[in-house]
Amino acid sequence: MTEQPIISLRAVTKVYGDGPTAFQALKGIDLDIAQGDFVAVMGPSGSGKSTTMNILGCLDVPSGGTFLFKGRHVETLDRDQRALLRRRYLGFVFQGFNLLSRTTALENVELPLLYRGEDKATRYDMGMAALDKVGLKDWWDHTPAELSGGQQQRVAIARAIVTQPDVLLADEPTGNLDSERSVEIMQLLTDLNRNSGITVLMVTHEPDMAAFARTIVHFKDGLVERIDQGVEG
Ligand SMILES: Nc1ncnc2c1ncn2[C@@H]1O[C@H](COP(=O)(O)OP(=O)(O)OP(=O)(O)O)[C@@H](O)[C@H]1O
Ligand SMILES: [Mg+2]
Repeated sequence: MTEQPIISLRAVTKVYGDGPTAFQALKGIDLDIAQGDFVAVMGPSGSGKSTTMNILGCLDVPSGGTFLFKGRHVETLDRDQRALLRRRYLGFVFQGFNLLSRTTALENVELPLLYRGEDKATRYDMGMAALDKVGLKDWWDHTPAELSGGQQQRVAIARAIVTQPDVLLADEPTGNLDSERSVEIMQLLTDLNRNSGITVLMVTHEPDMAAFARTIVHFKDGLVERIDQGVEG
C-alpha cells in the first residue's frame, strides 16, 4: 500500500478576472506530491507555475477542483483557516527574497514566530537554529543591505523553515543569483529535504537546478504536460 500524498490536486482551475477579460491560467491540474519528495516545476513563462505555487501555499484559492493537504480539503477553508494552515505547515521562498530592509537577519527570520505568538527567548533560539541551518549564524545582526544576494536568499530560506514546516515552496529561488550561488542554494534545499525531511517544491527555468530534484513536473498552457519521476542523479 502506498502512503497518501501530502498534496493532492484534482481538476484544479484558476480564472483571473471576469467577463470578456477573464483569463483561465489553470485548466485542470491533477498532481500528487509524495511526502519527502523534492520536486522541480518547469515550463514556459505563463504556463501557470506561480499560480499553482500560490494555491499550494494558501496565498490564493482555486476557481474549481479540489486541493487536499494532509487529507484536508483546503478549498473549503476560509481565509483565517488557510492562514493557520500556512503558518503551521508551509514555508514560502520567493525569487526577490522579500526581506525587511531595516531589520537584521535574525529579526527577519523571527517574524513568522512573532505572528505565531512565540515568546522572545523561543524566537531567539529557533531563529538562531534556523540561521545556523543555512550557514549564517555569525551574520545574525546584519541587515539585508550588508548581505550578498546568496546570503539574502539563505536568510529568506531560514525564515521559511524557522517554523519547521512540512513543505517548503520556492518560486524561482535562484532567479536572481549567479550559477555558483544558485548551486549553493540547491545544495541547501537538498540538505533540508534529506536531513530535515522537508518536502520541497521549487519552480525553476534552469535544467541544471531542476537536476537537483527527484521529480520534475512540466507545465504547459495551464496543464501538467508530463512528470519525470526518479530523475535524481
Ligand atoms: N493576478 C493576475 N491577474 C491576471 N492574470 C494573471 C494574474 N497572475 C497571473 N496571471 C496570468 O496567468 C497566467 C499564468 O501566470 P503564472 O504567473 O502562473 O505563470 P508562470 O508559469 O509562473 O510564468 P513565469 O515563468 O513567467 O513566472 C499568465 O498568462 C499570467 O499573465
Ligand atoms: Mg512564475
